[in-house]
Amino acid sequence: MKKQIESWPGLGVLSRYDRATEAWILIALHDDTLGAPAGGTRLRIYPTPEDGLRDAMRLAEGMTHKWAALDFPFGGGKAVLALSRELSQPERESLLRRYGRTLGWLGRAFSTGEDLGTSPADMLVVAQHTDTVHGVDRERGVARDPGPFTARGVLAAIRATVQRRFGEPDLSKRSFLVQGVGRVGGPLAGLLAEAGARVIVSDVEEASLRDAARRFGCETVSPEAVYDTPCDVYVPCATGGTLSRETVPRLRCAAVAGSANNQLDRPEDGVLLHERGILYAPDYIANAGGALAFGSIHLGVTDETELKRRVDGIGDSLRELFEEAARAGEPPEVAAGRRVRRVLERGPAR
Ligand code: PHE
Repeated sequence: MKKQIESWPGLGVLSRYDRATEAWILIALHDDTLGAPAGGTRLRIYPTPEDGLRDAMRLAEGMTHKWAALDFPFGGGKAVLALSRELSQPERESLLRRYGRTLGWLGRAFSTGEDLGTSPADMLVVAQHTDTVHGVDRERGVARDPGPFTARGVLAAIRATVQRRFGEPDLSKRSFLVQGVGRVGGPLAGLLAEAGARVIVSDVEEASLRDAARRFGCETVSPEAVYDTPCDVYVPCATGGTLSRETVPRLRCAAVAGSANNQLDRPEDGVLLHERGILYAPDYIANAGGALAFGSIHLGVTDETELKRRVDGIGDSLRELFEEAARAGEPPEVAAGRRVRRVLERGPAR
């Protein structure tokens, strides 16, 4: 871990080994130019704690990009609860309680919400020990799920992507392969089906897959077949790094737009997509809906119509970005990176 921390350009890492569950609590704080770091809490089994830390660091950096692209007053950070084995429900809760106390040490320096592997119920446990959990009403003891907001934002991003790539926004003429039908991919598959699109779903969990296929009446493919299945738009909604030198040459789609964080394995993989004529909606733009809605709620916005309006704005923001990238003849993520740098160099908006 020493080497990882030394070579990371972020602010710092808070690490705590939770002896009782043999898990690591890892909080990576990447950047505070625009405000105190904020980002989700991911919980899953990692082969080693170093893998968990690597994930936390990359995801924290992704959050810096996400907030800056939104020009929102938060910095980049992310928490990872890196399990070494499956936990029983009581063990899980005890870990979440100690995680909540750990967040308490940080005060206002980091705030958080759901991410892959955590649920609103988990956040309620964490929030017993800190008031820095987004989307939780501590008085009433209820936690909201950011997933539907993220899904709504991805749908707006998909409309912009389809318009750009096919010259018309009509989703009913298109096919979509949704990889991962969890808290975001699930509702998103539903929205796409509602819009009359042809939807194909995939998931590593057999039961979730069957359930989604039945609920939304869509086709399924096995996890191994995802990259070789013809579709108009590939919609990654699971783990990151699925766009790699190994998968990009296999893709049989015209565009990529989804909710997963860190979709590009390496920056060069975005160039590979561009060279193949596959239009890529930069992940931290397309998937910002949950962070944007929950960040807004955290700052006091309560009007649901206003929250939806903000999330739908992701579509326009992506349209502008595609336009700018096309003019410069560059991949969209390069234009997105420039927008991020512009905002970070300017500093917090007043
Ligand atoms: N997990 C969300 C993301 O990756 C971040 C988030 C932050 C969600 C705050 C809810 C609240 O964008």
